[in-house]
Amino acid sequence: MEALVEKIKKLKEEKNAVVLAHCYQNVEIDQVADFVGDSLYLSRKAKETNADIIVFAGVSFMAETAKLLSPDKKVLLPRLESGCFMADMINVSQLREFKSKHPNIPTVCYVNSTAAIKAECDVCCTSSNALNVVKALNAPEVLFLPDTYLGKWVESQLDGVKVTTYNGFCPTHLRLRPEDVEKSRQEHPSSKILAHPECHQEVCKLADYVGSTKQIMDYVQKTDFKEYTIATEKGVFDRLKRDYKDKTFYLLKDTLVCQNMKWNTLDDIYNALLREEHEITLDETVSQKAMACINKMFEITESVYKTAV
Ligand code: 13P
Ligand code: SF4
Repeated sequence: MEALVEKIKKLKEEKNAVVLAHCYQNVEIDQVADFVGDSLYLSRKAKETNADIIVFAGVSFMAETAKLLSPDKKVLLPRLESGCFMADMINVSQLREFKSKHPNIPTVCYVNSTAAIKAECDVCCTSSNALNVVKALNAPEVLFLPDTYLGKWVESQLDGVKVTTYNGFCPTHLRLRPEDVEKSRQEHPSSKILAHPECHQEVCKLADYVGSTKQIMDYVQKTDFKEYTIATEKGVFDRLKRDYKDKTFYLLKDTLVCQNMKWNTLDDIYNALLREEHEITLDETVSQKAMACINKMFEITESVYKTAV
């Protein structure tokens, strides 16, 4: 394994490449990753990098987003099977039908969507900034897609904004039921339960904290509780266990594994880089429109950030 890690690092240097890894990836991928984080962080890094090649260790909508943000770079997805079940739950005709049922309402799409979907929405968001994005629209009602649960969580956090959601969901996060949370509370009464907003709203209500993958990791860093129960994909739990040896972590349910996030191995990263496959290509018109949707998100999040500092 060490030899393979060294080979990948050498190849990265020769080809001026970076590896971006989502924190749901198999944990060994971090050994060759330049950046590890959530969707928002990785989008920012894709935008900033001067590399010629980006290897995206994540799922296809993430690699597409990187390509939109770095159109002149070669963006590679090591395994073509790495889709996202939620992103695949809406296609353009379903989106148009949804919008036509609710005309003249701003449409917010979760970054977990294809470029073709982003191209027909007003603004994009990630789970880190969904609340700020919806708030910034200052509208009495917004349409939110594809994730009904993230949309409903945003609505629960805002006073007087109606969030009309498309009925998409993440099968991994929906494996968690309120009974699992209650059982875990009984088993570990002092443990803080940290949930991703893609979980069912009844699960979110029972959690001690709800946040994106990065927000969950930051919560652990900033607090000094002894025990934490992780209610999101196992990759987050694996990294926390690795990084905080003095704290105890429980995975709320052992089936919290996103199969699509787990395809990549170090061999796949090596082969992708060596053969420069599988390259992401996007239609020019779709790209321009999808970029407008993503840029609107950055305008909002950058201005929120500036006001906060
Ligand atoms: P984050 O936006 O929190 O990285 O989550 C992405 C994702 O796919 C969650 O299932
Ligand atoms: Fe998609 Fe769910 Fe996997 Fe995230 S965890 S990539 S939303 S299927």
